[in-house]
Amino acid sequence: MFKSPLATMHVSALISLVVLFPVAFGQLNTLAKAKGLMYFGSATDNGELSDTTYVSILSNTSQFGQITPGNTQKWVYTEPTQNTFSWTQGDVITSFAEGNGQLLRCHNLVWYNELPSWITSGTWTNATLIAALKNHIANEVTHYKGQCYAWDVVNEAFNDDGTYRVDVFYTTIGPEYIPIAFETAALYDSSVKLYYNDYNIEYAGAKATAAQNLVTSLKARGIKIDGVGLQAHFIVGSTPSLSSQLSNLKAFTALGVEVAYTELDVRFSSLPPTTAGLTQQGTDYANTVSACVQTTNCVGVTVWDFTDKYSWVPSTFSGQGDACLWYTDFTLHPAYYSVVAALGGSATATSSTVVSTATTLVTSTTTTTSAAATTTASGTVAKWGQCGGTGWTGGTVCESGTTCTYSNAWYSQCL
Ligand SMILES: *[C@@H]1O[C@H](CO)[C@@H](O)[C@H](O)[C@H]1NC(C)=O
Ligand SMILES: *[C@@H]1O[C@H](CO)[C@@H](O)[C@H](O)[C@H]1NC(C)=O
Repeated sequence: MFKSPLATMHVSALISLVVLFPVAFGQLNTLAKAKGLMYFGSATDNGELSDTTYVSILSNTSQFGQITPGNTQKWVYTEPTQNTFSWTQGDVITSFAEGNGQLLRCHNLVWYNELPSWITSGTWTNATLIAALKNHIANEVTHYKGQCYAWDVVNEAFNDDGTYRVDVFYTTIGPEYIPIAFETAALYDSSVKLYYNDYNIEYAGAKATAAQNLVTSLKARGIKIDGVGLQAHFIVGSTPSLSSQLSNLKAFTALGVEVAYTELDVRFSSLPPTTAGLTQQGTDYANTVSACVQTTNCVGVTVWDFTDKYSWVPSTFSGQGDACLWYTDFTLHPAYYSVVAALGGSATATSSTVVSTATTLVTSTTTTTSAAATTTASGTVAKWGQCGGTGWTGGTVCESGTTCTYSNAWYSQCL
């Protein structure tokens, strides 16, 4: 991962600011990019976008540089009737992200859940289900072509013991449905990153091994797979340690794929949380964020919504909750500051030189928002910074050694 002296200086400067003004300057995406990640992001969903307080935070690219549609790109929404496609709801989220200049992780193409009944109750042969699967992927990938940084091609294909999850695809097609899905996605958008995404693969074990074996077998067959998404739906106090997450990420990246934490939240199994519990939640969040920061080819962290107000947890796990970084009333969990610290590295630089650098940054950030953090001393755009896209008014010349690379109509980046 790229970590220039300049990036380090910015981090030190921002850390001083965190000390001085904790609320205003803990900007998750700005800090993540200064640490060499591509983004810090959040999932969202259509119903929440009428909440103006929520939207003002989610749209703030100092906080969130990436969006994942929580539901409305899933099969039940996009192809409710066979070969009749409906993009309206998914497009609301992708347009929102594009309007803000945020990257999109598109989610998902094949999953056992949220399937339309014509799939789950249909009468299939191997050949007819393969045809339906290919048709779905071809249409959806084509519709969103050029808009997504990544697609979660297959979601949650394994049981915790590493065996294949039994669903209509596995039962009818066998394990071959997975390579078919990846091959088809690659055929219709050759530049989007193709991910396998799952939970309980954030630490070594049978399920992580199964996901690694999948990567190895696809690569051995020359089938494109670019990344593995580790969901990271955790429980306070029962999360894997930093060292176990680090070695686990390395086991994936050693296979030649990038990794990302794609659905991070850390829930309390009983409510209300204790003070000690809130401190532990901060440690748990920080361990995962630090694992990504410290891993070459871990590209970013996405929280599965940023506020308890719209968390999936209470409706899925009765009596549990407070899993996000913002409370229901949009005040911040202590864990927010733990994440800020994890994105800032060592918070020991407090010399007057650093403080005056920080003061300069305050002036520039208030006038140019996130652009300041990715501009080098010579005025070029630093690696990972935005260098183009519809509505972009910042710098377009990348620092030497990097090239302004088209991602979508709304976003080009120095890579
Ligand atoms: C984005 O959020 C940060 C941190 O809360 C805040 O300082 C900044 O003013 C916000 N920017 C906008 C444009 O609202
Ligand atoms: C279904 O067809 C595919 C493609 O020909 C094949 O690889 C797979 O093994 C078949 N599955 C079954 C259960 O016969």
